[in-house]
Amino acid sequence: MTEAGRAPPREGGHAGLLRLITCGSVDDGKSTLIGRLLYDSKAIFADHLDAIEQDRGGSAGLDLALLVDGLAAEREQGITIDVAHRYFQTARRKFIVADCPGHEQYTRNMITGASRADLAVILVDARKGVLPQTRRHSFLCHLVGIRHIVLAVTKMDLVGYDRTVFDDIVSQYAQFARGIGIEGFTAIPLSGVEGDNIVAAPSPRTPWYEGPGLLGHLESVPLLSDDAVARPFRLPVQWVNRPDQDFRGFAGTIASGSVRPGDPVRILPSGTTSTVKAIVTQDGELPAASAGEAVTLTLEDAVDCGRGDMLAAAGDPPQTADQFEATVIWLAEDDLHVGRFYDCKLATQTVRATVRQPKYRIDVDRMDRLAAKTLSLNDIGVAEIYTDRELVFEPFAKDRTLGGFILIDRETNATVAAGLLHFSLRRSQNVHWQPTDITREHHAGLKNQTPRVLWFTGLSGAGKSTIANEVEKKLAAMGRHTFLLDGDNIRHGLNKDLGFTEADRIENIRRIGEVAKLMADAGLIVLTAFISPFRAEREMVRTMLADHEFIEIFVNTPLDVAESRDAKGLYKKARRGELKNFTGIDSPYEAPENPEIVVDTVAMTPEEAADHIVRRIFPQSQERA
Ligand code: ADX
Repeated sequence: MTEAGRAPPREGGHAGLLRLITCGSVDDGKSTLIGRLLYDSKAIFADHLDAIEQDRGGSAGLDLALLVDGLAAEREQGITIDVAHRYFQTARRKFIVADCPGHEQYTRNMITGASRADLAVILVDARKGVLPQTRRHSFLCHLVGIRHIVLAVTKMDLVGYDRTVFDDIVSQYAQFARGIGIEGFTAIPLSGVEGDNIVAAPSPRTPWYEGPGLLGHLESVPLLSDDAVARPFRLPVQWVNRPDQDFRGFAGTIASGSVRPGDPVRILPSGTTSTVKAIVTQDGELPAASAGEAVTLTLEDAVDCGRGDMLAAAGDPPQTADQFEATVIWLAEDDLHVGRFYDCKLATQTVRATVRQPKYRIDVDRMDRLAAKTLSLNDIGVAEIYTDRELVFEPFAKDRTLGGFILIDRETNATVAAGLLHFSLRRSQNVHWQPTDITREHHAGLKNQTPRVLWFTGLSGAGKSTIANEVEKKLAAMGRHTFLLDGDNIRHGLNKDLGFTEADRIENIRRIGEVAKLMADAGLIVLTAFISPFRAEREMVRTMLADHEFIEIFVNTPLDVAESRDAKGLYKKARRGELKNFTGIDSPYEAPENPEIVVDTVAMTPEEAADHIVRRIFPQSQERA
């Protein structure tokens, strides 16, 4: 490979970089088409070409598909999932091609390739016409905001360059495209093998065709980055450059608009304003910079601004909110857990987010809306999203960078979803925190104690309630102010609408967490006795509370021991199949990995376990009591 062929174009700054995605299967002539583009634009790597030409006895018999398949090894190199990227260049532009497999299951790969593309080439085999796969790909491309769609009708040589075949496919596609909101597309009759309408048009074999050649079109279509420059200035701050006391620069890639020294800017979400002092680069100061460029700005004032904040045009800032409606594309084998906290990344911001039960999911083959309780691999749904802090954003329809987000599983660190923000929910802007005069410190001070949440977790029948009850009695005897929240009791009142599905258990723990937090704010030592089978929710409660306030107590009882106790006869019912989703039987229990305290109920009586816990939490008080 030559260096020129291999080196990816620079990310930002290049005026003419078009990202495109090709959708279709190899059968549609995709490899041949891409190979032809690379060959005709002389962009292929010289050594590759030699090898292929020797193989095939010169360029006449050149198998262009071989060229593309020969690059498949690139898939292994630092490229996410299964999308292969290729780079080529003509005198007018640079190109990055993301090539997505045609297979139905490949939503995940498609989304990865499509989310940054300016243009999509949707391949249709002239002999087969518009297929379900064509519709699916088009819908996804449109969904992720690709503005330019090329309907590449391939293998025209195999239908004798028949104009009616082409026209029929175009009108069939046009009807579908209108239905899903695609405003326009460019249809081109092609032959990858013969090279018709690849570079220039019309080919002598399609004199009836009046549109552009594929490459000509790719070279002239407006770029997303050009649109971005026209919008108001936004710079998501990637990091704060602070080499010494005097210099403080805010570094990042300009997402939209342009900036000059002297421009008034607003820092979000705080809303503070300042003025741009200078645009600093390694090669000196710039008079101006615009979308796509990585820069460091200095400001006139010493303002509070860090990673994840956004610098924006002072008079035209983006919105901030913590509740949204969004489209969520589920990319993980594990289903969405409604109500669970995921890490949510949007531009340089990371917050925690929960997804509510979807309003509906979209059947991509029929374009229907279906009822949904959750989302599974490759599902696309619309749902409300709540974040734990304000996000600075733009609706996705306006700005893909500031309206697109990903969700990450906090335990496995895997990307589980991609999402597009539609709008913020008005209630998130109208509900404010009410400051109170009597603070949590005041409440705690009156009770002369440090608030705590003693979170008991373990199987049903492990002894959580019994031990928690013993601990509460001991604390009361020590003059502590306590309150015990118990699973069976809370499920008769506050949570009587909840059952034992995974989603209900997550909601159960979320509410208990909120109540425990309020009680801790009131200065109490709270004891909770819930199975709380999932690590993620216990961690969620931990993060809701102040440092050291949450004390996880694992009531460690092996399943066979809990089952042999079976005080409520529930294990027997579960074994007989009369009780579904029973923890330990047909619903999982995830034991704590690093609990503050473990009590072994085989080795200790409840009384001993309670003593052990009190001693661990209040070593001095215990001695005095
Ligand atoms: S949790 O999983 O959501 O934390 P929680 O502690 O509130 O559960 O409630 C558990 C109690 O509900 C058990 O002690 C048991 O008495 C009762 N129960 C009824 N059905 C189930 C079930 N399917 N799985 C577990 N406990 C159940």
